[in-house]
Amino acid sequence: MDSVPFTERRNALTMNIDADTVEDAANRLHECNMEVFYGYENYKGLSDDEFLNKLDQLVILVKATLQNEKGIIVISGCGTSGRIGFLASTFFNQLCLENNLPKKYHYIIAGGNSALVTSVEATEDDPIVGAAELKHVSESFERVLFIGITCGLSAPFVGGQLEYCLDNPEKFIPVLIGFNPVSMARQIRVPKWSGDKTFYGVASRMEKTSGALILNPIVGPEPISGSSRMKSGTATKVMLDTVFYLASTNTNAKARDVIEEFKITIEKMKNETTDIANVIQQAGDCMINNGYIRYVGSSTFGIWGMIDASECVPTYNSSYDDIRGFMTNDYFKKSLNPESADSLVSPALDQSTPDDLWKTFQDLPPSSLIVFIDREYHLQKALVDKLQQKNHRIVWIKLLSTESLESNSNVQMIDFSKSITSADVTKQYLIAELILKLCLNTISTAAHILKGKVYQNIMIDVRVSNIKLFYRAIDIIKLLTGVDKETAEKCLIQSIYQTNDEINNQTIEQHITAVANNKDHIVPIALLMCLSNYSYTQAKLQIDKCPRIRDICTGNN
Ligand code: F6P
Repeated sequence: MDSVPFTERRNALTMNIDADTVEDAANRLHECNMEVFYGYENYKGLSDDEFLNKLDQLVILVKATLQNEKGIIVISGCGTSGRIGFLASTFFNQLCLENNLPKKYHYIIAGGNSALVTSVEATEDDPIVGAAELKHVSESFERVLFIGITCGLSAPFVGGQLEYCLDNPEKFIPVLIGFNPVSMARQIRVPKWSGDKTFYGVASRMEKTSGALILNPIVGPEPISGSSRMKSGTATKVMLDTVFYLASTNTNAKARDVIEEFKITIEKMKNETTDIANVIQQAGDCMINNGYIRYVGSSTFGIWGMIDASECVPTYNSSYDDIRGFMTNDYFKKSLNPESADSLVSPALDQSTPDDLWKTFQDLPPSSLIVFIDREYHLQKALVDKLQQKNHRIVWIKLLSTESLESNSNVQMIDFSKSITSADVTKQYLIAELILKLCLNTISTAAHILKGKVYQNIMIDVRVSNIKLFYRAIDIIKLLTGVDKETAEKCLIQSIYQTNDEINNQTIEQHITAVANNKDHIVPIALLMCLSNYSYTQAKLQIDKCPRIRDICTGNN
């Protein structure tokens, strides 16, 4: 167990979350969220003194870069890590403009802009593309503060960028954010990294390099093992917001003070457990009955909705349509890096008027669930009424809005506004974003649990769309069936290629490419092959008959 990285371990609090009541599940997820701040086992999470000192050091570095005319701050990551970097750079660039500074923050996400709202997992494995993109964005600057985020200390895309910084110390200051000790950084080699390099090698080199900074507090295992969008994503957001906020404002406060304020507010989310549990139940019922979930929001609130939705695809192999987010203003589109005109990101990024939204939503399956984020509930009232006439379920997440729900309304409201008491407007908004992230993560995670996409606390239908996920899938199969690594890998590969024959002549990269053309439940089929000694064809037939993937693991299929 000790060699298993914290970010891949199983959390003792959620071992049976798939059998919990919705209220208990909401409580368990909240307790896991608080581990980010209070710590896990003997680790102190974001309250660790040594870590907080380093965070204060980063504030000094960011301040210096903001004041340097030839300096920029580049934030990079894959999947959720890249998306959180994008949101932070978007928000704080806005603050730069308000402070009469040029935009000083730049984001990079593996897979480009489309990876902000859809799942583009394979580029995570490419250190060459990572380094080339960093080189490109930093070309016209003399000083670059590079912040690479990889929760598991694992992504070669970020590894290649850190290596590039270490090779060019006159220009770059490398900072690594992740949530494992360096000794647990990934040691697996990837085909595109020459000289047998690994992420562990780069992280160890950083440890020995003066001026390089590693920020890796231990926040403990994810509520759903490996789902780093959850606690690790929360910790990433809190760290970036704290540092950028302190560097952009005239304050004597330290990182500890800001984090404390985040902690106290997030703790208060517990007061809304009953309402959160009611929404989870509705979201679960909706998904079980093949309804869709839609989020409607504007500015960064709307973007959080799109991001939460996009992450469900690789984590639970859900369809793109199951959960989707929509924007009501063009804030997202205006925040994007320029890319070639033919690189389609998503039509949903465009500003949607109430009429556009009605055109899109009028054919939703019966009993779908539409979540209006903050002010959008009142701004879209006509749409709310039309959706209610069609008997869809409506949820309002109230954050900063000062309006109230009409009496006799049968809309389900979760009111967090009373918990957001910060006197500072910027902090109010950042806290509201964090609450929203946690609330949406809780709803979408718990809805997939109710749909049977989780066994105990394991994501049993993960999409095997990069090397990390390939090895995670093998570990899941081994753990749940007791077979050895070779058998687990053999069945996984047969399931990927949809064949009863053994495949021995393909590389791991070819396996990942083959996944892209396979819409099957790859891991569940492999699980069943191992559990019941079935051929691929027999297992596939069985899975096609069993809509609840969890039932395979409990023998109820
Ligand atoms: O590969 C998929 C994924 O696990 C995403 O879900 C996650 O957001 C991304 O990788 C990044 O992981 P990390 O931050 O550990 O590099």
